[in-house]
Amino acid sequence: MKLENKVAVVTGAASGMGKAIAELYAKEGAKVLVADFNIEGAEQVVQTIQERGGEATAFKVDVSSKEQVEQMIDQVISEFGKLDILVNNAGIMDKFEPVADVTDESWEKIFSVNTNSVLYGMRKAINYWLEKDMPGVIVNTISTGGLNGAHAGAAYGASKHAVVGLTKNSAFMYAQKNIRINGIAPGAIQTNISNSLTNINEFGISRAGMAHALTPRMGESDEVAAAALFLASDEASFVNGIVMPVDGGWTA
Ligand code: NAI
Repeated sequence: MKLENKVAVVTGAASGMGKAIAELYAKEGAKVLVADFNIEGAEQVVQTIQERGGEATAFKVDVSSKEQVEQMIDQVISEFGKLDILVNNAGIMDKFEPVADVTDESWEKIFSVNTNSVLYGMRKAINYWLEKDMPGVIVNTISTGGLNGAHAGAAYGASKHAVVGLTKNSAFMYAQKNIRINGIAPGAIQTNISNSLTNINEFGISRAGMAHALTPRMGESDEVAAAALFLASDEASFVNGIVMPVDGGWTA
């Protein structure tokens, strides 16, 4: 098993890609804190993991709250004795508004959930690893909207570009402390978020348009989880500071 004796936190793990990542990590031997503000969904994921013989606990968190994210990291350490892997996956999407239409409220909300949350989690986990002189791994779920201008609204795109910067800067800063930090840039993946886009055609963006890639279909959460497993595992021991597209060639 690729994550034997590892302890992981996955945020946004009640559905979509986070759920797939949590279940795959548990299957590969990790003990997983399944963190989400949808606690019922998180508990269902824990139940699935336990039925398959894995180990997991649900944790209710609003990742836009610094206090709650810090409690989440404290909780995993007190529950499972340590932390090895942090997956910052929780996120929300805007309505693909171009900058002229972005409201202050929408901008602040998107940044607090998609970007500030990543800072809170990374800062707490990295300080823990530095104090303990332990290795650590971070995987951030970003987006192709964090790599180019065409795949997102202004607030979402900017919030994900910021996470690319945080990922690369931190990988550079902490590589010598044995902390690896990478990101994944999913393309159009079949989840609740992408389903909510069905009616958004105003700016020429539709699910069919999103699915235009070298592999002309939407991706599955499991295909993203496979990348998250690789980046978290020792197989990626020489991989640091990258943002890996998992997009069927959309950004090729
Ligand atoms: P999803 O909606 O299925 O899952 C997101 C999860 O995050 C949900 O369980 C939700 O309850 C949780 N969440 C949302 N806000 C939260 C908060 N403030 N605190 C705690 N939990 C919160 O969506 P999906 O697609 O699995 O999204 C996962 C990540 O992937 C997000 O960061 C999203 O931006 C990103 N992404 C999604 C793409 C897609 O096509 N589905 C494409 C590129 C990136």
